[in-house]
Amino acid sequence: MDKVVIHGGNRLAGQIKISGAKNAALPIFAATLLAPGVFEISDVPDLKDIRTISKLLEEFGAKVGKVGSSSYRIDSENVNHHEASYDLVKTMRASCLALGPLLARLGRAKVSLPGGCAIGERPIDQHLKGLQALGADVRLEHGYVDLRVNGRLTGSRVTLDIVTVTGVMNIMMAATLAEGRTVIENAAGEPEVVALADMLNSMGAEINGAGSSVITIDGVEELRSTSVRIIPDRIEAGTFMVASAITGGDVKVIGVVPEHGATLLEKLRDCGCRVTESENSIRVEGPDNIAPVNVTTSPFPGFPTDMQAQFMALMTLAGGASVITETIFENRFMHIGELRRMGADIKVSGNTAVVRGVAGLSGAELMATDLRASASLILAGLAANGRTSVSRVYHLDRGYEHIESKLAAIGADIRRERAT
Ligand code: EPU
Repeated sequence: MDKVVIHGGNRLAGQIKISGAKNAALPIFAATLLAPGVFEISDVPDLKDIRTISKLLEEFGAKVGKVGSSSYRIDSENVNHHEASYDLVKTMRASCLALGPLLARLGRAKVSLPGGCAIGERPIDQHLKGLQALGADVRLEHGYVDLRVNGRLTGSRVTLDIVTVTGVMNIMMAATLAEGRTVIENAAGEPEVVALADMLNSMGAEINGAGSSVITIDGVEELRSTSVRIIPDRIEAGTFMVASAITGGDVKVIGVVPEHGATLLEKLRDCGCRVTESENSIRVEGPDNIAPVNVTTSPFPGFPTDMQAQFMALMTLAGGASVITETIFENRFMHIGELRRMGADIKVSGNTAVVRGVAGLSGAELMATDLRASASLILAGLAANGRTSVSRVYHLDRGYEHIESKLAAIGADIRRERAT
């Protein structure tokens, strides 16, 4: 099995160009199922999840081609198949983003029900509640969710019980082709939701309010293909900013939207980092002594759950105790056991971790459990004494484009050891 091997202790300095956002690209790829035509998508990150969703679109009849290093051409003219196999869906939960578009375009969508994963149970009841409100007949049989509608969906008022990112995306995509108005209340306002709404509007949809907690969609009879550029990955940017902070470095991330990371920037400043923002870059200068800072994850614009593990790695070296509370996923503390093996002092009670900073971490052989946990272990390895190896790097490859070469370019001693 491949491993990432790090010799810690180097101070990172330099510039990193941030890639397109995985969590914006996945729904945008799914949205191409809504209308026949040729879509041009640029700034797509080179990631395993992108290859998986490309295969998924091909199962439905689309043609997906890569153009150059980061653009895709998707021809969805012949989308005529409504079923996605378990083999594909089990490798990526975001496959369920096909439900809304297929249902709206073909009147039928059958996708294997995603199971739980390392960070939590992650049901899709809210997706289904919304699609049912729009008129879908919902059946759960033999591990598949099977949705049908005769004719068009019908606009409706949908009040979500919890804030769900992909749930809102699914309902919003389905509602674009429904008859009449849909109002989604308690909607997620993540930048990726706004990016999807912008794309849908450029296809001819009529969506208002994306980014706020109430989204209104006036259904249209048909949509057309479009060109779209993927927004920068705020979580990749955040991970490199923490890399700067934890190594006392001086790193500038470029090609970013600073407002997308405002809460994290505030927390980095509280830790003692010097943070300088420009229109599309953020420079983070790490402090000599990291101050302890409490964080609680919450939906945007709160502190992102996708940065919790990385921030915890930083807190393991703070000059005091910090409290980290995870409110989005019930099991997103899998990195703690591995951080402890490096000498971190972390006590967990329910969804709260108390992290008492230690003077140093020591390199160790580690195992990644999920995507952001892997990033957290790499950050810890950058600051640790000696050699750290992180195995199960396939988690990392799902969401970080060329992370080793990007970190090596700013001074990290990091490389991938291929399994022989
Ligand atoms: N939930 C339900 N029912 C639903 C939907 C969600 O109970 O029908 C619960 C979830 O179990 C979770 C909470 O609601 O406890 C929030 O989940 P959400 O639906 O918002 O998460 P998601 O849409 O499945 C996306 C990202 C995640 C990110 C979360 C939260 C994509 C493809 N995934 O997941 O990204 O953590 O939003 O911001 O956009 C990652 O990139 O590492 C990652 C896990």
